[in-house]
Amino acid sequence: MANVPRPWWKDATVYQIYPASFNDSNNDGIGDIPGIVQKLDYIQSLGVEVIWVCPMYDSPQVDMGYDISNYEAVYPPYGTVGYMEILIKETHRRNMKIILDLVINHTSDQHAWFQESRSSKDNPKRDWYIWRPAVYDSNGNRKPPNNWRSLFGGSVWQWDEHTQEYYLHLFCTEQPDVNWENQETRQAIYKSAMISWLDRGVDGFRIDTVNMYSKPMDFPDAPVQDPNVPWQDGSLLFCNGPNMDKYLDEMNAILVRYNAMSVGECPATPDRARVLAYVSEAAKKLNMVFQFDSVDVGQSRPSKYDTAPFNYTLADVKGAICRTQSLLDGTDAWTTSFIENHDQARSISRFGNDSPLWRTRSGKMLAILFASLSGTLFVYQGQEIGMINMPKDWPIEEYKDVDSINFYSEMVQRHPGDEAAHAKARAGLQHLSRDHARTPMQWSPQFNAGFTDKDVEPWMRVNTSAQEGINVEEEHEDPSSVLNFWRRMLKVRKAHAEVLVHGNFQLVDEDNEKVFSFVKTSLDGKTKALVVCNFSDVENRLPGVDGIDTVSAKVVLDNVFDQQQNDTPVETGAGYASQYLQPWEARIYMLA
Ligand code: GLC
Ligand code: CA
Repeated sequence: MANVPRPWWKDATVYQIYPASFNDSNNDGIGDIPGIVQKLDYIQSLGVEVIWVCPMYDSPQVDMGYDISNYEAVYPPYGTVGYMEILIKETHRRNMKIILDLVINHTSDQHAWFQESRSSKDNPKRDWYIWRPAVYDSNGNRKPPNNWRSLFGGSVWQWDEHTQEYYLHLFCTEQPDVNWENQETRQAIYKSAMISWLDRGVDGFRIDTVNMYSKPMDFPDAPVQDPNVPWQDGSLLFCNGPNMDKYLDEMNAILVRYNAMSVGECPATPDRARVLAYVSEAAKKLNMVFQFDSVDVGQSRPSKYDTAPFNYTLADVKGAICRTQSLLDGTDAWTTSFIENHDQARSISRFGNDSPLWRTRSGKMLAILFASLSGTLFVYQGQEIGMINMPKDWPIEEYKDVDSINFYSEMVQRHPGDEAAHAKARAGLQHLSRDHARTPMQWSPQFNAGFTDKDVEPWMRVNTSAQEGINVEEEHEDPSSVLNFWRRMLKVRKAHAEVLVHGNFQLVDEDNEKVFSFVKTSLDGKTKALVVCNFSDVENRLPGVDGIDTVSAKVVLDNVFDQQQNDTPVETGAGYASQYLQPWEARIYMLA
């Protein structure tokens, strides 16, 4: 579309940092803010322009900092507000930007606001959270107000003995939902969570669960999908509620004052029109959102992990990517491209092949795929070195994530003594647990991977793949590493931004079950790219695409015939001209 503005965040690539697992500067086993500062030059060397720091606020860490007890303080093991000021300054000094995680659908139950709210029914902050009386069945048994299932299992309602009412928590019991209906509460949130950090110079926010603030306050029951369990998936009811637009308008009014960027996490929103109404330029709600289409592929509902590994087809992957890319078709909206974050298992283990034979190549293939899509690109720490899931033989005790642990205990409880059911639950976690993203960053082949000193016990066990070549130190020296491939890929993305970042996406050869191919076209129609990715362990033929001659077309990047050891763009060569793709091979053809 003509005349769609080009703010700074459209062409940017964002690098996501998980503070606990990034770099431990003082050898207490926990990553920290000075540790991030030490690695800013490394981050910049990737070719990214923005860092997103996951919650570093004070928190009891029931959900790794997504349970915040004070928005204006820093979790002491990570550092202090003073260290955050240094991080902001050092990021800006490198001409990069920094965004923080904004978690305001809920607070920790240790937040002073909730402590007051729960203290008595007539406390002035009682209405800052969502309290409801019990209901009773015909036998006089106490029941919660409705049947919604918490996103981390169990009921969304927690009984509070002290004041004899339930409070709502869509996530953990320790994460009570704030009552957004209360205008005084909203103002307090904006001031404490947003303005205090914008005033310190942050450049925007990744906004956690952005579509859950407004709930249907009569709390209707969710349709019963599984009669064998008491609690049902209510996400289509509690996401995108009636007052969302109003709240986002209020937030946006603050963000624009600071020229700040916003990217909202937008689960359970299959309706394209609803997404467009958040991210179109005219709507002025959010700059962009993370849709869940791609990361949900192969996951189950209501619990993501309750499935068998690799339970999807390539058609599912294609369909998911088409949906998020199509947001740009003939609209003034913007989208995102990502396949990893702190809530997702490693993409090579889910969509590539993480065996020693294919992990490097399939990791590079996924780099080509996701960095050729339109929208702002997000890369999660470790993705750029091809990190993979934790080894399958690690015992369940190595899993630390509350969501994973709750899932496993629920399965053990529901199937007592049924070893096969427990093994299935473990297989689901081995494939999809959030923990796979949270093992420490692998900086070197040493014991503890250079994340923390070798004599220290890190908060989470380091993946043994650090000793198998997946680490920054060795990959930096190796021109054929995933790390150096990502660096080249980001250069190619920049050099061809009109096509790769802003172009229109069109799936070709749709029914091919092994090769994922698409054409990108610049908005002026002058430049096209053909991207082909072989999602299999065997050779496959290139698709025939009308009007594209893959024999003479120029390949700008190929993950197999990639002898590039420097920064000059690759030229068409014999290997690229082959009409067959090797296992996990991917190519970008550029057609002027
Ligand atoms: C988002 C976060 C996730 C967290 C949840 C509750 O989905 O990405 O890590 O557990 O919100 O805040
Ligand atoms: Ca530390």
